[in-house]
Amino acid sequence: MNYRAPLLLTVTVMPGVRKPMRTFPRKMVRTLLLLVFSAGTVAAQTLPKAMTGANLANGRALHQEKNCAACHVQQFGGDGTRIYTRADRKVKSAEKLIAQVAACNTRLRAELFPEDERDIAAYLNQDYYKFK
Ligand code: HEC
Repeated sequence: MNYRAPLLLTVTVMPGVRKPMRTFPRKMVRTLLLLVFSAGTVAAQTLPKAMTGANLANGRALHQEKNCAACHVQQFGGDGTRIYTRADRKVKSAEKLIAQVAACNTRLRAELFPEDERDIAAYLNQDYYKFK
């Protein structure tokens, strides 16, 4: 007898509890999807003007392929990314970032097209510089 009372209570309370529980996650999922979607749109819009239409994946691949980091590692140590993140880095704008990639490209004699330089700059901007 002593054990039945709480059991009965749970059974009668549960249906009332379940209903809102079942509809809540669906709303949550919709809100989350909306958030993710709008975040993606905002990210695409905040690509700096000078980098409009840049192919970030191509930029990342070229940065790897042309071994840009090798030279930076020699000069600044680490994995070569510190040159992009150090407090006294040289590049202060999206335009200057493209210009610097072009300058290093010339030094490297990597023979990148201007579109490639822009793609690399956009990739570096996304991961390190974050200019708007
Ligand atoms: C021959 C060596 C060398 C190579 C190869 C090289 N860089 Fe550089 N890079 C430098 C040096 C040195 C600096 C520091 C600035 C300076 O003295 O001009 C620099 C600076 C930079 C900066 C600016 C960092 C800052 O302070 O904000 C960027 C961006 C950059 N390089 C991108 C690239 C990319 C992209 C490539 C590959 C296409 C590349 N570099 C290849 C030597 C090199």
